[in-house]
Amino acid sequence: MAPVGIIGVGSYVPPRKMSNEDWAQIVDTSDEWITTKTGMKNRRIADSNVCTSDLAVKACKVALENSGLEASDIDLLILATSSPDVPMSSTAGIVQEKLGCTDCGAFDINAVCAGWVHALDVGSRFAGTKGYRNVLVVGSEVYSRILNWEDRSTCVLFGDGAGAVVLSEVPREKGIIGSWLMSDGSGSNVIEIPAGGVRVPIPSEEFKEGMQYFHMDGRAVWNFAIEAFPQAVLGVLERFGRTLDEVDLIIPHQANINIIEAGMQNLGLPMDKTYTNLHKYGNTAGASIPIAMHEAFEEGFLKEGDLVVTVAFGGGLAWGANLIQF
Ligand SMILES: CC(C)(COP(=O)(O)OP(=O)(O)OC[C@H]1O[C@@H](n2cnc3c(N)ncnc32)[C@H](O)[C@@H]1OP(=O)(O)O)[C@@H](O)C(=O)NCCC(=O)NCCS
Repeated sequence: MAPVGIIGVGSYVPPRKMSNEDWAQIVDTSDEWITTKTGMKNRRIADSNVCTSDLAVKACKVALENSGLEASDIDLLILATSSPDVPMSSTAGIVQEKLGCTDCGAFDINAVCAGWVHALDVGSRFAGTKGYRNVLVVGSEVYSRILNWEDRSTCVLFGDGAGAVVLSEVPREKGIIGSWLMSDGSGSNVIEIPAGGVRVPIPSEEFKEGMQYFHMDGRAVWNFAIEAFPQAVLGVLERFGRTLDEVDLIIPHQANINIIEAGMQNLGLPMDKTYTNLHKYGNTAGASIPIAMHEAFEEGFLKEGDLVVTVAFGGGLAWGANLIQF
């Protein structure tokens, strides 16, 4: 079987910027606190009439254009999101309709901030197989609408955006080599939206307490993430018989500059072996890696021939990595 790889990458972020100073007008925070604790300076916020599917469609169009394919060439569409347009049906189906991929399957994957590495792994297993020649994998999030804008410990950390890749057969020396995924469901409440599912359904008294919004134990996530980051990178390299010194670039989930620095330090790698853009967009959850990948490619940080690890960690708890030969 011919290898499967990324033949086009694209991203889209909404135009409206929200700076640390803007947040300081709304909650008790400061540019200094946010910058020191996270490295973030700005994030993008979708207008109130814009949904996760709208951002996804825009990112997909760029990825399709860069791949040279049309929407009608897509056989399967996989969307990583934890901020869907609606709880049901799938946002992937809405994207399919808006994009005009009339003859393909479509489904969502929810592994929160690790959604992208899961979706890419699943997509790479379909692409190039009988009936699924070209697969569109997209990560898209509108976290600004699931956050509690009165909770300073979470609201300043996230932003909206989308990124996408087209997967198809590539020449033998390239392709997605494989992935390493892991879950620890005992931490499922470390990052959660407690209400709005079947455990605490709508309508419910708990909604008055803000349980329909995103909740996070930031310190627990920190402790998890600084271990998960290097574990996933080393896990995928070991699984496919490759070594750290062969890696040209690590594209991590853009959660926090301090987590990325700790992860890189733990691996014994300098920061110039990674790419970060979280100062511009904050944490865009399942969209952060493909947005970073697109920008790294556009800016020349990511080049043809590079061996790349993408690594993500987040709610679930879920974490993982993909190993890609560009
Ligand atoms: C969220 C995070 C930056 C907080 O940093 P921290 O050093 O753990 O900070 P703490 O939670 O101990 O809070 C320190 C103080 O800052 C305050 N604080 C919280 N958010 C604040 C904000 N936006 N502005 C100002 N102060 C804030 C807290 O209330 C606390 O005050 P107190 O000491 O008076 O109680 C850090 O824990 C982190 O990055 N965790 C990982 C989060 C993440 O990446 N999540 C997504 C994963 S996919």
